Amino acid sequence: MKMILLGAPGVGKGTQAQFITAKLSIPQISTGDMLREAIAAESPLGKKVQSVMESGALVTDEIIIDLVKERIQAPDCRSGFLFDGFPRTIAQAQALIDQGIEIDCVVEISVPDAEIISRLSGRRTHIESGRIYHTQNNPPRIAGKDDETGEELVQREDDKEETIMERLNVYREQTEPLVKFYKELSSKSGGKTGYHSISGLGDTTEIKDKIFSILDE
Ligand code: AP5
Repeated sequence: MKMILLGAPGVGKGTQAQFITAKLSIPQISTGDMLREAIAAESPLGKKVQSVMESGALVTDEIIIDLVKERIQAPDCRSGFLFDGFPRTIAQAQALIDQGIEIDCVVEISVPDAEIISRLSGRRTHIESGRIYHTQNNPPRIAGKDDETGEELVQREDDKEETIMERLNVYREQTEPLVKFYKELSSKSGGKTGYHSISGLGDTTEIKDKIFSILDE
């Protein structure tokens, strides 16, 4: 299964990715997590992208496409993968087509902006594993600590309110056109690439059940 989770920042893509990858036994490919790992490792890539990410803008297509091309060659991607936060521009989506990669399923998750702002400002992340919490909606067992390792949770630099607004603008301008792109691709492919749109409002189990019923169709 080759699947894409599409949606604005904070709609719950990373949260749902954890359930989907466990169900389908495929890896999650989160370009955001990969870039944050590069920043934490202070690698040349990390140094190149840090200020761009902190501003809420997108990293260049060239960097992202190279990163993804390399990642999907790994043996764990042989039976598929779940893209989370990729593609984010028409050029990135076109690069997949140019590589002959056929997507089986796109799930678009939508949530109103006010809810996104509240979700992102309360989000806490365990950087190393990508595990996600929320101070109110999904708190860790011990405040500020990862449930599995007991390590410190952090607030992402780009989860400050002014940067969240910028990320939402960037989403509308550069990523939302992918909704039309994949709807058209789905009809051109005769449904081979399935396109599904769901609301991301409700508790995480409810959303998970909606996605699982799409996957079980
Ligand atoms: P990235 O890391 O991809 O961030 P994003 O798309 O902005 O998405 P988020 O991780 O913020 O949100 P999410 O939808 O995963 O929500 P989550 O599950 O965490 O990208 C970061 C940056 O990297 C970009 O700005 C860009 O600079 C760069 N980048 C990455 N990929 C790129 C690409 N392809 N091209 C160019 N640049 C790229 O949930 C959010 C919060 O809500 C959590 O606290 C969670 O606990 C809570 N929550 C989740 N579900 C629910 C629910 N149902 N009810 C209540 N709370 C919930």
